Amino acid sequence: TERTLSIIKPDATKRNLTGKINAKFEDAGLRIIAQKRIQLTKAQAGQFYAVHAERPFYDELCEFMASEPVVVQVLEGEGAILKNREVMGATNPADAAPGTIRAEFAESVGENSVHGSDAPETAKEEIAFFFSGLELVG
Ligand code: GTP
Ligand code: MG
Repeated sequence: TERTLSIIKPDATKRNLTGKINAKFEDAGLRIIAQKRIQLTKAQAGQFYAVHAERPFYDELCEFMASEPVVVQVLEGEGAILKNREVMGATNPADAAPGTIRAEFAESVGENSVHGSDAPETAKEEIAFFFSGLELVG
């Protein structure tokens, strides 16, 4: 089985969508093996999204991620990284397939409700960014 890092973003926590989003993960066979609600600073958001530092939306993205609490979580299951990205849908909700989290809940390409790791190496790094080994009970 595989693990991936998921973040329920400020636009979704603010609208009390955590439970509805978690139901979509669980319905897809992803087990939530760790979860916590945290308030990121803008600097921490910037560190997490450092790979996007040169993109024009970087500052806006970091402000947004620090604007309200987020729920960070580890999802586990067969092919969890790809499966999670399928359940999330395309980055831009206008392009997201019906039934996906972003199609149903996202407000815009920036405020798009969820983050999910995109590869095994980034999943490992992103899980370690938020969780210690003791917090991960598979
Ligand atoms: P993540 O799972 O959050 O990494 O989304 P992704 O892999 O589908 O998208 P990507 O890694 O390309 O971009 C990371 C995040 O930056 C997106 O989820 C959006 O929140 C934000 N983002 C991407 N493109 C834009 C954009 O054109 N404008 C704004 N404001 N934000 C963007
Ligand atoms: Mg990404």
